[in-house]
Amino acid sequence: MMVDKGNHRHFMAKEIYEQPEVIPHTFGHYLDLENERVALPELPFDLAGVSHISITACGTALYAGAIAEYWFERFGRVPVNIDIASEFRYRETPLQPDGVTIVISQSGETADTLASLRYAKEQGQKVIAVVNVPTSTIAREADAVLPTLAGVEIGVASTKAFTCQLATLACLAVAVGRAKGHLQDEDERKLVRAMMEVPRLMTEALTLSPEIELLSRTLAKAQDVLYLGRGTNYPLAMEGALKLKEISYIHAEGYAAGELKHGPIALIDEKMPVVVIAPYDRVFEKTVSNMEEVAARGGRIILVTDPKGAELANVPAMQKLILPEMPATVAPLVYSIPVQLIAYHTAVLMGTDVDQPRNLAKSVTVE
Ligand code: G6P
Repeated sequence: MMVDKGNHRHFMAKEIYEQPEVIPHTFGHYLDLENERVALPELPFDLAGVSHISITACGTALYAGAIAEYWFERFGRVPVNIDIASEFRYRETPLQPDGVTIVISQSGETADTLASLRYAKEQGQKVIAVVNVPTSTIAREADAVLPTLAGVEIGVASTKAFTCQLATLACLAVAVGRAKGHLQDEDERKLVRAMMEVPRLMTEALTLSPEIELLSRTLAKAQDVLYLGRGTNYPLAMEGALKLKEISYIHAEGYAAGELKHGPIALIDEKMPVVVIAPYDRVFEKTVSNMEEVAARGGRIILVTDPKGAELANVPAMQKLILPEMPATVAPLVYSIPVQLIAYHTAVLMGTDVDQPRNLAKSVTVE
């Protein structure tokens, strides 16, 4: 299939901007909009009987899984373990009877993810593949396939495939919650309504682009950037750091904000930008304390938050990127947009090959 960049300078920009259009396809596939319920295609096993979930993937897909871990635990009350596919495949981890392994892959061809799928099957697990390429090897070998329906993704750094993975996994987590009797009808309706708001919220998030472009002038001068978050924003912080290093070649690390004092705080000085992903939620005040620790050491904070968070975080020398208020479950999908734009604008300014960064491949079919 021929895909062009449209009016965009790079495929990555096109794919970032496409998200408000592709996300409704994904949700449309997994939701019964009329009844405001999740409606997954039939699976060859009963989700009510799932004792345990293991999640495995590489790169950006792994971070989608790490966000979903919070959802499976919250909605499904089911224990989850998650591991990098290159570790999972060799760990010989004991897998529980009636366990499900979820493998996540844009390409469906990543060698380590495929090997992990095979290991899980050998161990008697049911395997669900969350893939963007439905004809891929991973899709063929899994017991059930949940396509992410992001459309062809060309940029090596994954953007729309990531948010479509999140959309798919959120629906699966709700389905597990319902099947296990932990999620009431009204809770499910609320979640579905929140999901339906995502395209609009993403469109609003995209309007931050000019502000982020200005901000990227500071980031482009940095040697290292730290990303912090709590809860689902912690894996999103890791994804933000991965995106930045992949395409701008600036060293970046994503950390759980609570771990700041256990190491990364030693790095902070006035040269260190710290991107804090923190919508106003039940752990917000904790993250404010972390920001105070950063500010006290002269670190330059870039806070990605909502109006209430912006009002309550009175930390000096701070730049704020303000998104609309939204339910916590959908926040990772929408907060992905500024995270992607930060990496994109910084890389453009650095003059790197944004769509084909050095040493990276879109699909890694060797170990
Ligand atoms: C490569 C790509 C990443 C991607 C990872 C996993 O490293 O550069 O963007 O996240 O592979 O790929 P997959 O196709 O399995 O999602």
